[in-house]
Amino acid sequence: MDFRSWLIMTVILALFQTNFLRSDAAGNVNFDANYHVTWGNDHVLFLDQRREVQLSMDQASGAGFASNAFYASGFFQMRIKIPNKDTAGVVTAFYLFLNTTVHDELDFEFLGNRPGKPVALQTNVFTNHVGGREQKFNLWFDPSADFHYYKIVWNHHQIVFFIDDIPIRIFKNNGHKGVGYPNKAMQVIVSLWDGSSWATDGGREKVNWSSAPFQAHFQDFNIDGCVSTPDSPNKECYSQKHWWNTEQHWLLNPQQQKAYYDTRKKFMTYDYCADRNRYPHPPPECIG
Ligand SMILES: *[C@@H]1O[C@H](CO)[C@@H](O)[C@H](O)[C@H]1NC(C)=O
Ligand SMILES: *[C@@H]1O[C@H](CO)[C@@H](O)[C@H](O)[C@H]1NC(C)=O
Repeated sequence: MDFRSWLIMTVILALFQTNFLRSDAAGNVNFDANYHVTWGNDHVLFLDQRREVQLSMDQASGAGFASNAFYASGFFQMRIKIPNKDTAGVVTAFYLFLNTTVHDELDFEFLGNRPGKPVALQTNVFTNHVGGREQKFNLWFDPSADFHYYKIVWNHHQIVFFIDDIPIRIFKNNGHKGVGYPNKAMQVIVSLWDGSSWATDGGREKVNWSSAPFQAHFQDFNIDGCVSTPDSPNKECYSQKHWWNTEQHWLLNPQQQKAYYDTRKKFMTYDYCADRNRYPHPPPECIG
């Protein structure tokens, strides 16, 4: 199968998973329904009656926003179009995070690049302050050309990262193997910032400010999450009255599994589970 047919097949299969990732929220709510600006106010522009946000970064500042509420499970999504041009060192991030000393975190981070070189999409999972679980992808499309959906489903059984409807990463609840699992409430956070010290080619490629301002666009501010206080996760957040906690979301279905394996095989460029220099003994969640 050539690449084009593969892509069409994958998208068709993904579309067949009726109901898998439906959003309960009605319509496309505006920014203020769920989010507020956290930094770089003068680098934030609202468009389309606040149904779209543009974040800018120049030498003076980047910018960011966060959800008003904290969530202890749910379906989190954002439509994102990252900056174009020379974006080496520029990081566009969409993640779940709680700022405490022993924190959990689920990351999508776009690591910009020089013109003509691929932007990497890095994912990471922190549990109890332990990260180092990077998996990176070179995408099958240009994420600066169009909006795409980036999604995270988080229930008590698994966390799945999706690009559009394609699952690209699963983090299982391996509590029985002694692996931490996110169980504290987190905020949804979006930011555009200068990652010159690490993001591109290990920090060798810095932001070229003559390409500034860098501009990222965001749409779809719906959140289907279980609201919780940060310090005492609400047990009700595991209840099957929330669609993302129901049994069909405990495992991928066969079509999704196929899309998951095919996509990772073709587009994953780094996997901490396979990095024997870094982890001579693979971390327990990587085995089996
Ligand atoms: C976490 O909170 C502290 C103070 O409450 C703040 O100084 C720090 O910048 C925050 N860190 C992040 C990553 O948000
Ligand atoms: C930065 O961009 C300018 C203008 O596009 C270019 O002339 C210059 O060579 C770039 N610098 C680096 C370090 O790539």
